[in-house]
Formats: sequence, structure tokens, C-alpha cells
Amino acid sequence: MAEMTDVFFVDGMRTPFGRAGEKGMYWNTRADDLVVKAIIGLMERNGDVPKDRIDDVAIAATSQTGDQGLTLGRTAAILAGLPMTVPGLAIERMCAGAMTSVTTMGASIGVGMYDLALAGGVEHMGRHPIGGNVDPNPRFVAEKLVDPGALNMGVTAERIHDRFPHLTKERADRFGAASQHKVQAAYEAGKIQPDLVSVAVKDAEGAWGLATEDEGRRPETTVEGLATLKTPFRPHGRVTAGTSSPLTDGATISLLAGAGAVKEFGLAPKMRMVSFAFAGVEPEIMGIGPIPSTEKALKKAGLTIDDIGLFELNEAFAIQVISLLDHFGIADDDPRVNPWGGAIALGHPLAASGVRLMIQLAAQFAERPDVRYGLTAMCVGLGQGGSVIWENPFFDGKKKRK
Ligand SMILES: CC(C)(COP(=O)(O)OP(=O)(O)OC[C@H]1O[C@@H](n2cnc3c(N)ncnc32)[C@H](O)[C@@H]1OP(=O)(O)O)[C@@H](O)C(=O)NCCC(=O)NCCS
Repeated sequence: MAEMTDVFFVDGMRTPFGRAGEKGMYWNTRADDLVVKAIIGLMERNGDVPKDRIDDVAIAATSQTGDQGLTLGRTAAILAGLPMTVPGLAIERMCAGAMTSVTTMGASIGVGMYDLALAGGVEHMGRHPIGGNVDPNPRFVAEKLVDPGALNMGVTAERIHDRFPHLTKERADRFGAASQHKVQAAYEAGKIQPDLVSVAVKDAEGAWGLATEDEGRRPETTVEGLATLKTPFRPHGRVTAGTSSPLTDGATISLLAGAGAVKEFGLAPKMRMVSFAFAGVEPEIMGIGPIPSTEKALKKAGLTIDDIGLFELNEAFAIQVISLLDHFGIADDDPRVNPWGGAIALGHPLAASGVRLMIQLAAQFAERPDVRYGLTAMCVGLGQGGSVIWENPFFDGKKKRK
């Protein structure tokens, strides 16, 4: 009989993230090939894991057409050379796609049905522009179910500013600049690079190169410079390119295992899944979604926000992260929050980003035996939030460092 078991994040890797669009490094690279590269890289790094024992492969994408269509989990598994006996599926929850791949596979492991699973996501926002190819039901607007602005994520971010006037543009600008500087510091310290899988890329002239680093970083950012940027989502608004995640191409993948598989294959997991939750909020201010999902996940875990020693919050927009921090009484520049920066600097390839948060949290856990619990959380278009709480296997029980 299958038994309930602990769920472990064994390892995760991702492609470098590229700027979406013709000038971006992945313009001539297929979305599914990005996932395939990530899977190959992860399986190479975990060579002791028998490929034929993987029970499922879940890959998320927001736009599931063209090179992101055709049941990505199955096609990517075949293309990555996994045995034909390994099945796969596609997942869709917009920005929380990869996070949902992890929770879905994690739940399947938790109830004892799976031993090992791959979970990740991809978004090639250059080839699949946000909101492209969709046909929202006219009832949404006709019946005033949502305001038309709810479908534009930047407009929803402006509305968080409206709702909470004390969360000012200056605070968002400071947060945006800090993200860039933290990412640069993490790069200089070599923290990000170990979990990147290099991708061969072809430029417009057909010359081959190698993508080895996230492309969209702007380390030279200053708070003063951000103050002068245009506000593309509203005239005289407050949200700018410097406080938004940029349009991005990239893929992420993780290897999950149950306690039995960890023992059987002698794996060294990087995190244990403690709890997860998703929640809905008004679509017009979708960015506050991770507040209720985090409250639900904390409750399920029997923890409080004070138990969380590290936060990996997806920076869809600076204001949206600040609203969560404000809700929980955490300072905008609290060192526990996104210590190596976030999506404003690294990019946010929608359905891939959830596992990027986990990869970064896992790497920090290894350095921080004083921290027991960490949170990965993100907002989701049309008014949702997703949160996963993780436990650090390296926790040594010592008191928190100041
Ligand atoms: C905000 C957004 C519209 C900006 O797009 P864009 O105009 O193509 O972005 P760019 O990179 O060209 O930046 C615009 C300008 O700001 C400048 N800029 C951007 N970031 C900067 C920074 N950190 N420091 C200084 N200048 C910066 C650029 O140099 C550019 O200047 P220019 O107009 O003089 O060339 C786009 O990134 C976006 O839609 N983001 C949100 C994506 C989204 O909704 N994701 C889902 C979340 S739920």
C-alpha cells in the first residue's frame, strides 16, 4: 500500500533568462528547447537518479500554443532523452505555473503515488507575448465581473499604489534599484551561476554563441535615474520599467522526491516541502494575491510569519512585493527578503519563475544553517497568489544570527 511521505526538493536548475524580443538572446531559440536544455542539465547533475524511475514530468507554460503547446511535459521529456516509459503533462496557472507544477507533483509524491518527478516551466515571452492569442469571454466586461484594466498587469500594479497611498513611488523605486544591486552582488559572489544551464544560441546573422548569464540585468541603476522613467501603464502613474519585471524568455526545472526515493538513491535534498496554498483576490489588484496564500500556507504549517527566516518573493512589480511586506510588518529592505535580488533584475518568464524562486531559496538554505523555514511566494494574473513553505535540511538548531 502507498503511504503518505515527506516531499523533498532535491535539486533545481534553469536556463539563463533572456530579454524577450528580437534583440534578446533567445529570439532564434524555441521555447521547448529551453526546457529540454534545463532537463538535460539537471539530469546530468543528478546522474545517480535512474531516469526510468521518474514517475512524471510536469512543465508549465502560460501560452500553450506553438512551441509551447503539445503537452510540454511529454514532448520535453522525449526530446531530453528520458525513456519513452516516462509520462508527462502540461500545467497552466499563469505566473504560478512552475510553482503549480511543483505543488502538483509534490502532492502526488506526498500521497505515495510517485517516487520521483520533474517539475518546471517555461515562457518565451518574445515568441508568446503576454495576453497574445487569448479571447477573454465578453461577459467579464459586459457583466462587470472584472474591470478591463484587470487584464493588464501593470494597471493592476498602479491600483495597489491607489489603494495604499503610503506605499509610495519613492519606496518602489528604492526597491527596484536594490533588486538590481543585490543581483549584481550575487553574480559577483558567484551565487547565481552554479544553477544555470548554458544554452547554445544563434544570432540574427546565424552565428552561434552561448547564453551563460541572465541578460536583462541593469547594475548601473540608480534611484535618481528611476525617478525620471516614463510610467507606461498610466499617464503620471507610479509604475515604471525600473519597478516592473521585464518581459523575459527562460525555463526552469526541479527534481522532487519522496522520502523512500531519497533513501533508495542516496539523494541529498536541498529543501523539504512543509506546506503550500493558493488563494484568490480581486483581479484588479492581483499583486496582493500572495498575502492570503501565505496566510493559508502558514496556517497549514502551524507557523507564523516570524518563523520564516528567508523570503523569495517574485518581483512582478516592486509595489506588489512591498504591499506584502507592509501587510506583515516587514521593512522594504529587510535582509531576509530576496537577498540575491529578484525578478525586476533577473526577469520573470511567467510560468517558469516559481522554480527560479525555489532554486535561489535552496542555494541560500545551504549557506544558512541558522534558518529553518523559507517562503517562496508570487502573485498571479486575474487575482491569485501562490505560496510554498520549505524547511532547510541543513538547519542546525542554533539560534538565529542577528
Ligand atoms: C514595463 C514594461 C512595459 C517596459 O517595457 P519596455 O518599454 O520595453 O522596457 P525597456 O527595457 O525598453 O525600458 C523602458 C525605458 O526605461 C529604461 N529603463 C528600464 N529599466 C531601467 C533601469 N533599471 N534603470 C534605468 N533605466 C531603465 C530603459 O532604458 C528604457 O529607456 P528608453 O525608453 O530611453 O530606451 C515591460 O517591461 C512590462 O510590460 N513589464 C511587465 C510585464 C508583466 O506584466 N509581467 C507579468 C507580471 S504579473
